[in-house]
Amino acid sequence: MQKFIVEGGRKLRGEITLQGSKNSSLPIMAAAILCGEECTLRNCPALTDVYAASRILNCVGCRCMFSGNTAVIDSTSLSGTEIPEELMHEMRSSIIFMGAMLGRTGECTVSVPGGCELGPRPIDMHLAAMKKMGVDIRDSGGQIVCRTRKGRAKGTKLSLSFPSVGATENIILCAVTAEGETVINNAAREPEICDLCGFLRACGADIKGDGGSRIVINGREQLHGCDYAIMPDRIAGATYLSMTAAAGGEIILTEACVPEMEPFLNVLEQTGCSIYSRGSRIYLRSGSRLRAVSDRIRTMPHPGFPTDAQAVLMAALAAADGTSVFEENIFDCRYRHTEALVKMGADIQVLGKVAIVRGVQRLHGANVEATDLRGGAAMICAALAAEGTSEITRIEHINRGYEKIEDAVTALGGSIRRA
Ligand code: UD1
Repeated sequence: MQKFIVEGGRKLRGEITLQGSKNSSLPIMAAAILCGEECTLRNCPALTDVYAASRILNCVGCRCMFSGNTAVIDSTSLSGTEIPEELMHEMRSSIIFMGAMLGRTGECTVSVPGGCELGPRPIDMHLAAMKKMGVDIRDSGGQIVCRTRKGRAKGTKLSLSFPSVGATENIILCAVTAEGETVINNAAREPEICDLCGFLRACGADIKGDGGSRIVINGREQLHGCDYAIMPDRIAGATYLSMTAAAGGEIILTEACVPEMEPFLNVLEQTGCSIYSRGSRIYLRSGSRLRAVSDRIRTMPHPGFPTDAQAVLMAALAAADGTSVFEENIFDCRYRHTEALVKMGADIQVLGKVAIVRGVQRLHGANVEATDLRGGAAMICAALAAEGTSEITRIEHINRGYEKIEDAVTALGGSIRRA
């Protein structure tokens, strides 16, 4: 079991290039199944979740080759429609292969996905939407067996009860080759949805309205291959900015997606950090002490404050002047990192969906365990700001979403090593 050893108290200074987005790469890799040809994906981050997606592609007969940050996926030779349970359990995003497989072959067998460390993450909306699109879904000994009637799903009008990112993606994947028109009302508006649609359009799909709440898709009989660059990772960006805010110093993020990061940047700016952006570069300078954020920080679907950035910002605010209040509205169980932050000297009180963070003078190093991907990243932020040494175990959670995080932190002058 690997761990990170972090020596805190050093200011961070330097420039880093943002990795490609994990949350875009996974649905786009699934979408490559639909084109039935070769696709080249650039800016694809080297992450364990990306490799898990590549294992799923391999097991249904697609070829997936990596060279640096370029992935070449050839789905010409697709031969299977069943994704084994152990691969489904590797990550929650495995469920989006359902829409892609249905779109290509009209059938698939999957199981309930893994990655449920944020509390119950049901797939009821995914299944209800597929059923409405004419997919027959049966539970067979824990497996979900899905079949369309004539090998093709049917376009229809759908209204989501909540703008679920995964359900929106699954519907889009199923709809781009379905018969007729599909309308998704109350669709998720996350930038990664636009990235998926950008990829699908490059493959010949007819999709309109992504980025808004109403997406209209006209099914095409066939798609084709393409060459596509994945968008930058706005959550990795939020993490490196939070680290610098917490530890003090100056950072330039290059190849960042500035408009997409605004909901986060607008809140971070309230801590007293100077933040400027030009083109795809973001510059942040952190003073000696951060200020608490006076307005309640409410996580909301995009363009609200992103739930994935809640933990890293909380780590930065743990040693700010004053009290900040978070309200987590997306996941039931997304404060698991607070216990570790408290062990590092933070004063945090969790009351249901609310977390009250009373800024302390200084955090101190401690031995902690990463609870989940973003919670683990928050522990690195806190450890870099803390006095003394911290050991963070269970870093396999962190490897799921950050490409060479220790190299990036070291390049900024932080002290972190993998042991
Ligand atoms: C995606 C992101 C994740 C991010 C989340 C919210 C990926 C790979 N993951 O996750 O990083 O935190 O969006 O921005 O892109 N829900 C249901 N039934 C469903 C589907 C969802 O009740 O059928 C609930 C979930 O339990 C959760 C909420 O809806 O409480 C949001 O989930 P969703 O938007 O679907 O998140 P994911 O797609 O899993």
